[in-house]
Amino acid sequence: MHHKRLDDQHLLTKVMDIKAMGDSVFYTCLLSHLQNHMIHPSKIEHLRSSVYLIHCNNRLFIIKGFDSNQTLNNQKELTQRLKKNGFIHTYSFIEDLPTFEYDGQVFGAIEYIQPSSDRFHFGSEKNRIEGLTVLHTFHNSTGLNLTNNLSHFNQIVKWEERLRIFCKYQPIIGEYVAESILSSWINWAKWALVGMKQHETELMAEKKVIIHGDCAHHNFLRKQDGELALLDFDLIAYAPPFIDYLQYCSRILPYLVDPAKELWFYPEIATYKENKAFLYALTYPTDILREWNRLCKNHLSHHSAQLHRIWKMTIEQFAKRMKFNEEIAGMIESL
Ligand SMILES: Nc1ncnc2c1ncn2[C@@H]1O[C@H](COP(=O)(O)OP(=O)(O)O)[C@@H](O)[C@H]1O
Ligand SMILES: [Mg+2]
Repeated sequence: MHHKRLDDQHLLTKVMDIKAMGDSVFYTCLLSHLQNHMIHPSKIEHLRSSVYLIHCNNRLFIIKGFDSNQTLNNQKELTQRLKKNGFIHTYSFIEDLPTFEYDGQVFGAIEYIQPSSDRFHFGSEKNRIEGLTVLHTFHNSTGLNLTNNLSHFNQIVKWEERLRIFCKYQPIIGEYVAESILSSWINWAKWALVGMKQHETELMAEKKVIIHGDCAHHNFLRKQDGELALLDFDLIAYAPPFIDYLQYCSRILPYLVDPAKELWFYPEIATYKENKAFLYALTYPTDILREWNRLCKNHLSHHSAQLHRIWKMTIEQFAKRMKFNEEIAGMIESL
């Protein structure tokens, strides 16, 4: 790294520049940490919660906060292994900058991937196909056990809890959504869980891999060279690949015109066409329950923009989603 001495005054000015962005104590720690390692940033951008983009001598890199050293080390080991196994669709951690701790988080440095202006989203069929290919290649490139313990993901436990919380918030949600619609979502959630439990052996039939665990569009990044990258390994766990594909389905569903038919055009998803556990799981309204729970937990029901987005998803998509669920139920029936 280029060496340039910064005096305290300079450091302070920098902190003042970015003070408006939030936690100035954090920025002071971050700057002095970087400075101790001969890095003198010209700009720090706060990208999202614990993710910062550091500009230094026309070079860019990411600083990201992790829950613990173990979480960070797991992700380092995973990305190293992915690279070793020929998986090119992600970043590497930067090993020559030591970690630092702040407010219970451990911050590590990550190579910055230059995004293309052609942003990745699930509205494009090409993206939907390519995302699945990358995910499939990821599952085949992670290898098995990591050095540290990685948790085993249990979809049924997770969704039972999500439903329990949703039911707890029912009186609040009921102020915005008609009782008949609300109970319909709850009944589908219960029905899906019963079916998943009944067919748990099918759910667990595949060999476990390391799943990504968070297949949202913002964890895919279209690179400037046109390749697709996969980011953010905060939710990796041992589980059947089924779990990632299920999540992927729920992310792309809103963009499909006739999802009960179109889903099976994707080869990675067609694998599960006769898997009853998968079919039941498709009818669980995971996004609706998740978003309402998040809104209520953060007392955001008075934030009209977010409320409106979730309300639209709950009401406007209702007919389409009910048709989808009925058709999936029909598929289960005919198996
Ligand atoms: N290495 C990277 N290169 C380029 N952009 C990144 C990188 N890491 C994160 N980002 C950007 O920051 C966002 C948040 O990072 P992410 O690791 O997904 O954090 P979070 O856990 O908060 O979702 C990503 O969606 C992406 O836009
Ligand atoms: Mg993310």
